[in-house]
Amino acid sequence: RPTRFEVVTAMTRYWAVVPAAGAGKRMGSAVPKQYLQVLGQPILQHTLTRLLEAEMLAGIMVALGHEDGYWQDQIPARHDPRIMTTTGGAERTDSVLCALEALSPLAHENDWVLVHDAARLCITVDDIRHLITVVTTHASAPGGILAVPVSDTLKQVGDDLTIADTPDRSHIWRAFTPQMFRIGALKKVLLSARQEGYVVTDDASAFELAGERPLIVEGRPDNIKVTRPEDLALAAFYLEQQCIV
Ligand code: CTP
Ligand code: MG
Repeated sequence: RPTRFEVVTAMTRYWAVVPAAGAGKRMGSAVPKQYLQVLGQPILQHTLTRLLEAEMLAGIMVALGHEDGYWQDQIPARHDPRIMTTTGGAERTDSVLCALEALSPLAHENDWVLVHDAARLCITVDDIRHLITVVTTHASAPGGILAVPVSDTLKQVGDDLTIADTPDRSHIWRAFTPQMFRIGALKKVLLSARQEGYVVTDDASAFELAGERPLIVEGRPDNIKVTRPEDLALAAFYLEQQCIV
């Protein structure tokens, strides 16, 4: 007969949280970037379609801007029963916390959550599976994130735009999403980071501030975040390439 712990473990589920409440200032468009079209569909629709393809997700909580006027008319994925919405906050980390809060009546503290930026529409199911496999086989780590090693030489630059240093790039990676943690633990570290006055730009940072070391899991370099106007054409190119391969 299984112990209580074994029963809970057997039922451990995977959820996704999608922060989609940003204004997209660096994109500079009137429409928030998650609603800009790529290959005839809004970015957020692409992202949710990819996440829905990952059949291991029990539910997907999307954090929307408080005056979002696009979700209702532009995102057909909203009809999928696994998709739920809530209202986000001022910073990405606030939106993630709102979504975790909205998930808490449904999820167990010990369930896994994959936090994935709405703006990363080129995420593949294979990368999601790879992240889950690596993280769940390294039980000692608090979780892990998809990332890619940097390939350019890096420069430390002064305010006057002169080069002060060339840091060793061999240990520097670019942090992508999904970032995967236990729901209860993620909520706890995000709240303490906020209480200490830090505005973390990703979820792993909150664990680092708490003295923990999440795993780096090498992902596909085409999992870009659409940030600036030139990223739109690149994302369209990657999406098309992925369909051919
Ligand atoms: N995000 C959010 N809530 C915020 C800010 C950001 O949910 N208050 C989301 C964005 O919608 C995006 C993801 O977090 O999907 C990553 O953030 P980023 O790329 O920085 O998007 P924006 O903040 O919208 O863009 P910018 O920083 O250029 O304004
Ligand atoms: Mg931002």
